[in-house]
Amino acid sequence: MSDLLRAFPELEALPASLRATAGDTGLTLLLDGRLERWEGPSHPIRSAVETRDAEGRLHPIELGPAAAPTAAEGLRAVETAVGAWQGGRGEWPRASVSHRIACTLDFVKRARPLREAVARALMWEVGKPYADSLVEFDRTLQYVEDTVETLRQLERDNGPSVRAGGFAARIRRAPLGVALCMGPYNYAVNEVYTTVIPALVMGNPVVIKTPRYGILANALLAPALAASYPPGVVSMITGDGPTVVGPIVESGKLDVLALIGSARTAAVLLRQHPKPYRLRTILGMGAKNPAIVLKDADLDLAAKEIVSGALTFNGQRCTALKHVLVERPVAEALVERLAARIAALRVGMPWEEGVSITPMPDADHVAFLAGLVHDATKHGARVVNAGGGERAGKLLRPALVYPVPRAALLYTKEQFGPIVPVSVIDGPDEALDVVDRSDVGQQASIFGRDDATLGRLVDQLANLVCRVNLNTQCRRGPDLYPFTGRKDSAVATLSVYDALRSFSIRSMVAVADAGAARLEELAAHARFLEAPRA
Ligand code: G3H
Repeated sequence: MSDLLRAFPELEALPASLRATAGDTGLTLLLDGRLERWEGPSHPIRSAVETRDAEGRLHPIELGPAAAPTAAEGLRAVETAVGAWQGGRGEWPRASVSHRIACTLDFVKRARPLREAVARALMWEVGKPYADSLVEFDRTLQYVEDTVETLRQLERDNGPSVRAGGFAARIRRAPLGVALCMGPYNYAVNEVYTTVIPALVMGNPVVIKTPRYGILANALLAPALAASYPPGVVSMITGDGPTVVGPIVESGKLDVLALIGSARTAAVLLRQHPKPYRLRTILGMGAKNPAIVLKDADLDLAAKEIVSGALTFNGQRCTALKHVLVERPVAEALVERLAARIAALRVGMPWEEGVSITPMPDADHVAFLAGLVHDATKHGARVVNAGGGERAGKLLRPALVYPVPRAALLYTKEQFGPIVPVSVIDGPDEALDVVDRSDVGQQASIFGRDDATLGRLVDQLANLVCRVNLNTQCRRGPDLYPFTGRKDSAVATLSVYDALRSFSIRSMVAVADAGAARLEELAAHARFLEAPRA
């Protein structure tokens, strides 16, 4: 039996405290303003983790049923949101900011005790290490609290009237309308809530479509949403995207689409909206962030950052380093260091301490990754690290693939998995050409020392991507920083500050200068004119 297979536990060997308990949490929907236990068709939720029998055969662990709603439920959800919006005349879009903040802080209070349960659900369903799942949960609540603080500041900044050209005006940020928020499985809670909360707090009614994997973690949080926000302001459905989401978009009732996923999905959805120019989009999509390693780089530091940047959580991060471009004179020395660090990574089950490489949720994607490695070897690259690319079930030992030539798929395709492709470049300009030719443009990392070279690269990369990292890996955080990209990587910007802007529009009330006092007088009758009280 291979070592990799041995990483899977035998069912009996799992401590009871760690056993996945199959319940019917996955049947929870939040529809028509109330929690609903779905009685219709369902499918089993399979854990990323499998168990092994004495013969070494792997068996799926089932985590209970997941609702498989139909187009009708998608349409019910959007109708509920339309009802809460009422063309902008609903209670929620007109509610005071302080009321929306109070609901949001109430949600935080209700969600906090669910920390371990949500992390366990992420661990079992998505295969994310338990420690990282806890971090995801904590980071999400921190994001929500920071969003509230930032909104308070935004309100204070927008408080005073603005005088110009003989007018006085009260300018505030107003909601956009009905929002659909869809997150990805790799950050199944965090990336759902980093759009849902800014959308809600700015006054938009929201429909959440949960990711393909991560259904349970989201279902666990649904009761807190239902209790904290007025009925109908937020709905939550699960299910197959084309079945459930297609009809929502086709209905033309959606004003905002927030999707963290793929450009392919975004393109399909945009084509489905009858008036696509009306749809505000906030999109986080693909990336192929390069690590550009210059010949004067500190190779130990570069190797450390690249291995962590490329392989944390199996490389299933949109911000992961997905292509190493190294200058020829130091290529072999870097590859040697990368191989040594990859060999030291712990491959195992997500509850094990210090584990980096864990089973992934999507068997088809694991096959796709194996195909990428195979294709690269056909084009003359080799897998450098011992056992790299070995598979057992949905567990894949990281593969360091070198030298990846331009003709190989790995050179341009986003792997979103534990593969580290290394290509040789003859000078920094070749790296710039690679980024320029790419369909995506999220971030880049540069490893090097010479100021003149670094400076020249910074100036050019800043216009090709949206974050240049010097001698450090790519990442999204801290969440105060703008998170966005160019080309097929993103539309609009997320951060605790930018998301509030992305989910709102500036609207204003103006009077002739001479009547400026009317703005204050009317404040007793119009929430829009109220001084900030948040
Ligand atoms: O998958 C994309 C995530 O937003 C990446 O976030 O860089 O903090 O892992 P991270």
